[in-house]
Amino acid sequence: MSKYKFLSTPIYYPNGKPHMGHAFTNMQTDIMVRMYNLYGYETLFSTGVDEHGTKVQQKAESNKLSPQAWVDQLVDNFYGLNNLLDLSEHRFVRTSDESHQKLVKDIWMKISENDDFYLKDYEGLYCVGSESFIKESDLIDGNCPGFGVPPVKMNESNYFFKLSKYLPKIKEMIEKKEINIQPEYRAKEVLNMIEHLGDFSVSRPKSSLEWGVEVPNDADHVMYVWIDALSNYLTVLGYPENMHEFEKFWPNVENIIGKDILKFHAIYFPAMCLSLGINPVSKIYAHGMILVDGQKMSKSIGNVIDPIAVIEKYGSDVVRFSVNREMPMGSDGDFSEDRLKEIYASDLQSNIGNLFSRVVTMSHKFCDGEIKSDDFTEIKEAKEKLESDVFKHLENFEVRKMNECILEFSSFLNKYVEENKPWALNKEGNLDRLNVVLSNLLEGIRFLACFLSPILTKKTRDMQQILNLENFDLALTYKVGDKVNTISPLFPNLTD
Ligand code: MSP
Repeated sequence: MSKYKFLSTPIYYPNGKPHMGHAFTNMQTDIMVRMYNLYGYETLFSTGVDEHGTKVQQKAESNKLSPQAWVDQLVDNFYGLNNLLDLSEHRFVRTSDESHQKLVKDIWMKISENDDFYLKDYEGLYCVGSESFIKESDLIDGNCPGFGVPPVKMNESNYFFKLSKYLPKIKEMIEKKEINIQPEYRAKEVLNMIEHLGDFSVSRPKSSLEWGVEVPNDADHVMYVWIDALSNYLTVLGYPENMHEFEKFWPNVENIIGKDILKFHAIYFPAMCLSLGINPVSKIYAHGMILVDGQKMSKSIGNVIDPIAVIEKYGSDVVRFSVNREMPMGSDGDFSEDRLKEIYASDLQSNIGNLFSRVVTMSHKFCDGEIKSDDFTEIKEAKEKLESDVFKHLENFEVRKMNECILEFSSFLNKYVEENKPWALNKEGNLDRLNVVLSNLLEGIRFLACFLSPILTKKTRDMQQILNLENFDLALTYKVGDKVNTISPLFPNLTD
């Protein structure tokens, strides 16, 4: 039976440069995608940019460019980041693309035919930063709670989506875990939110916003950004025009998002899906925020980390490994270069790097770099535990725990070296035992490299060459007569 997974990141507002938060979501999702590939899944990975809305329109005007020309410039920053992060094959959605716009219009029409939109005069407070309407009671000192700026008063006619009609069903689906929100405590927060929500606005009159997808049955309006943006998870599969990929991947879709946009993904989007007559996304993972010294990154504090500069300094492997080693599942965590360096020294240089050097060097010194035994019984249990534990954590979005299991396996192999002392076996002339020990170690580091390959995407290409492997395959083992190549240090000292 084929196994499928569709993992998505949010689509980002392209204003300004991407920051470490965007990089974090993308790296983390990529690690999970690659891990599923290792377990034999066929995957689809999507990310992209959310290009419509007031902010883009305003910025484009102040830069004396059309909104399209403006986003065409900005999108390069995101392509550049994804390239530097060494993301695996993915689809990149741009909401200004013709193909997306056409399908969003089809989606709009389906919801409209289901009688779930109505036009209403609306007066409300609108925050351009978060592209959302804010309740007066949610303001903090008159400011939008997320963006810290005062919202503007709007009085206009909007299409509304009949969210109220779907709230009882969504509540039930979350309670029954048919919509599975991780970490679980966030599901409780969502259930709480449901009590306070009503129908929401899904369009803006063209007189106040031009830069959006035109409402197909009312040319005076454009879609309000969230309906356009959330639909990307469907349009990227060709829905509703081409159902082939949809049928394959939609039952296996998982949205990876930041906790800040949970309401939209766990309530608004499921309601849209129900209106379309399709199942809502079955798994949603809301991760925490990357902080700097315990504080949110913000331009005004001046503590925004540029992921591109950090990657250029340390390389994508070190950033991918250290950020995901450090960030707790679902809650906020700090990023600092000092911590990155500590992780480099202890986990990469000392635990993993030394192990590879010792094993490969000893195998050349004592066994001509050759596998001389295929009795891998002594590491069998540890291998099986690694394989089953990582998969369990993968299904629960526990990227940090996956990382810990991999490091534990590496520590286990280091201990095996110390306990079995191949150099002493060689001195004693106990060659049968030496062959078994070194073969177990080589097979051990082969298996370790397999599990590192979704994280250290570049360094494991070097490991692959050293270990003489065609690919990283969990189902294979070394055979007697296989040979490894020589090694030079995998993780040299960092230069500052
Ligand atoms: N465009 C909407 C999302 C639409 S999805 C259908 C949006 N864009 S955003 O540019 O503001 O980025 C949102 C996402 O960026 C967050 O949910 C989160 O994934 C990521 N992050 C933004 N700041 C972050 C941190 N400081 N730390 C971690 N992730 C953060 O909202």
